[in-house]
Amino acid sequence: MEEINDVLRKVSSTLKFMEEAGCMGFDCSDKTLSVVAELGKIKTYLPDSLDTIRNDLGDCRRCKLYSGRKNIVFGAGNQDAKLVFVGEGPGYDEDVKGEPFVGKAGQLLTKIIQAINLTRDKVYICNIIKCRPPSNRNPENDEIKACFPFLKRQLDAISPDFICALGTFAAQTLLDTDEPISKLRGRLFEYHGIKVMPTYHPAYLLRNPEKKRDVWEDMKKLIGMMKG
Ligand code: URA
Repeated sequence: MEEINDVLRKVSSTLKFMEEAGCMGFDCSDKTLSVVAELGKIKTYLPDSLDTIRNDLGDCRRCKLYSGRKNIVFGAGNQDAKLVFVGEGPGYDEDVKGEPFVGKAGQLLTKIIQAINLTRDKVYICNIIKCRPPSNRNPENDEIKACFPFLKRQLDAISPDFICALGTFAAQTLLDTDEPISKLRGRLFEYHGIKVMPTYHPAYLLRNPEKKRDVWEDMKKLIGMMKG
């Protein structure tokens, strides 16, 4: 159903785009059909804005996590970001404030962002799931499945050049793999044309500070590619 909605949204915004471009109607001449075929190769539709996506999410009850949450944590940052950080899901502090990565792990993420000469308002930060699981347990498959279409639309709206996938759940979900984060980190992948660099989650770094060196290596690679 979500995929049909996605197609309908894209058809509708493509028609809007064509109307704005001065298209008065359709004929079926070979010339028109070849123009339409060419249009199909480029992204002619206008993705929804983050506000529209947030509105569509509404007071979400698509999975069981709604019953224990205080706030939906949609995401925060720059709609035009070149780099998006994707974490796992809100913890206690994020649930209270409705903002991603504002607790202890978030403070470390802020430092990581600053270490690559960026600020939180230059990037976009969000999570695989938007509601806090009880006792911060791992997200379950049905929860990821219910939430992922909204993350997909957010990424489509922002259209960043790079995603930094923070930790196992972000990396495995975006890359559709079961490989452990220790094997994925520091390597470059792609998600729908966006380059993806997985690295360790800041909460893992708080428990294993000796892994900060690996994350710093990954960030140096990432920033090198962003500049290059
Ligand atoms: N951990 C996450 O994965 N995301 C947050 O927003 C906070 C902590």
